Amino acid sequence: MTSTPRRRPEARRERASGEGAGLLSLSGVDLTTEVLRTERLVLRPHRPDDEDAVLRACQDPGIQRWLADLPVPYTRDDARQFVAGVAPAERAEGRGMPTVVEADGELVGSAGVHLRGSRLGPEVGYWIAPWGRGRGYAAEAARALAEWALGHGAPRVHLFADVGNVASQTVAERAGFSREGVVRSCLDQRDGTWRDAVLFGRVR
Ligand SMILES: CC(C)(COP(=O)(O)OP(=O)(O)OC[C@H]1O[C@@H](n2cnc3c(N)ncnc32)[C@H](O)[C@@H]1OP(=O)(O)O)[C@@H](O)C(=O)NCCC(=O)NCCS
Repeated sequence: MTSTPRRRPEARRERASGEGAGLLSLSGVDLTTEVLRTERLVLRPHRPDDEDAVLRACQDPGIQRWLADLPVPYTRDDARQFVAGVAPAERAEGRGMPTVVEADGELVGSAGVHLRGSRLGPEVGYWIAPWGRGRGYAAEAARALAEWALGHGAPRVHLFADVGNVASQTVAERAGFSREGVVRSCLDQRDGTWRDAVLFGRVR
């Protein structure tokens, strides 16, 4: 006997919202211009004139240590490619919403939500420049991004923090995420090794 396989609801939603949008329903959202506002922050698209601030921030040893996919040394070309190429392309192609974290008109960090289709849901990430740290900006940005994704239909959002990155784990909890477990050897490092990460999740 043959039968027509039932399509999973998420498969239907993926088709409706476009490649890469995963479980989100983004009709009516223009990802290329989408801006989120919180009490103290504006989360906006990157612009070419963010190059200097991104270049300066990404010299920070903490950012270089915990974001293993960041090129080291981090050059002006890397910053230019990111703010004018990589980040706008991610939005234009519906793969994610990278944002500049702006406080009082100044770039204090970068945060984003990647919308790759995955059972774990959209993934939130962030860094805060040394001159913006210690004021809870990362948690405020991560919370806004998580709520944006959940508000657009994602059943869950997640983030990974290296088991040694205590500051980031604190941020995740302050942003409303729960610790779901440790995923072993999932973070690839520049030296070819793999590190364990704490998986955090937030559900609708
Ligand atoms: C992690 C990071 C985003 C935190 O940004 P932030 O806006 O300063 O975050 P908060 O102000 O909410 O501070 C987070 C908490 O961690 C604490 N903290 C900071 N550095 C710490 C460290 N090395 N060890 C333990 N706790 C630390 C802070 O003191 C703060 O707690 P408190 O308010 O009780 O003092 C920022 O340090 C950063 O960009 N680090 C490098 C990149 C990175 O790790 N990104 C995340 C990858 S998953």
